[in-house]
Amino acid sequence: QWSNFSKIAPYAELFQQGIIVTVLLSVFTVAIGFCIALVLALMRMSNVRPFRSLGLDKDGHMREGGPLVWISRFNPLSFLATAYVEILRSTPVIVQVFIIYYGVFGIVQLPSFQIFGFIKFSRFFPGVVALGMNSGAYLCEIIRAGIQSIDGGQTEAARSLGLSQTQNLRYIIFPQALKNILPAIANEFVVIIKESAITYTIGVQDIMSAVNAVKGATFVIVEPLLVATAIYFCLCFPTSKIIAYFERRMSRGDKR
Ligand code: ARG
Repeated sequence: QWSNFSKIAPYAELFQQGIIVTVLLSVFTVAIGFCIALVLALMRMSNVRPFRSLGLDKDGHMREGGPLVWISRFNPLSFLATAYVEILRSTPVIVQVFIIYYGVFGIVQLPSFQIFGFIKFSRFFPGVVALGMNSGAYLCEIIRAGIQSIDGGQTEAARSLGLSQTQNLRYIIFPQALKNILPAIANEFVVIIKESAITYTIGVQDIMSAVNAVKGATFVIVEPLLVATAIYFCLCFPTSKIIAYFERRMSRGDKR
């Protein structure tokens, strides 16, 4: 029954708008996710030890072991960041989206206006926040691995040249780490394009919601699903191929 495709033709505009919403949603998600991830990664790598002195005995020597030593090593910033990452990575995205949409933004009322006439802010924003928070947890691990992959000699050289720890991170470590993790960040973008499909459950008018709208209006379901499949494939497949290409090209310069 190929004629059913003609039944969904009048809804082409919904799919066009859906593509814009899905792409914008993914761009904002990864941008917010990256900012959250940067803060989390710095928290996890920080060296804040408020109870350090408990690990020392009355002569100021390091204790041998035991609970006081454990407490002296406790880093509250790192603990909070680790808890955040592990909780967000160990629970389903749809639960997180619902908690943000019904929980947080059920209490904090958002203004209801539309962007471009079809992006409902009160749905789009919670979607971006929830996906961004989730993505931040995954990106945190990517950033941390990227920073830790930079040889320790770089820091030693920078520090002996008189750069502060912050300057070292800002001018020496970050630029090198960013180059290494760029492919992983782009991959996260592809993951989020696919993952963002669940935001249709909170009324974000993305590609998946166009499928749902056509289904409701025409009782045709398989054809719009095939259209959505084709669109998601056209968004994700070329993007991941381009990433793989640049990944190969960039790693070429690293072989010394
Ligand atoms: N599908 C997974 C879930 O429902 C989420 C994966 C999210 N991944 C990511 N890289 N942001 O829990």
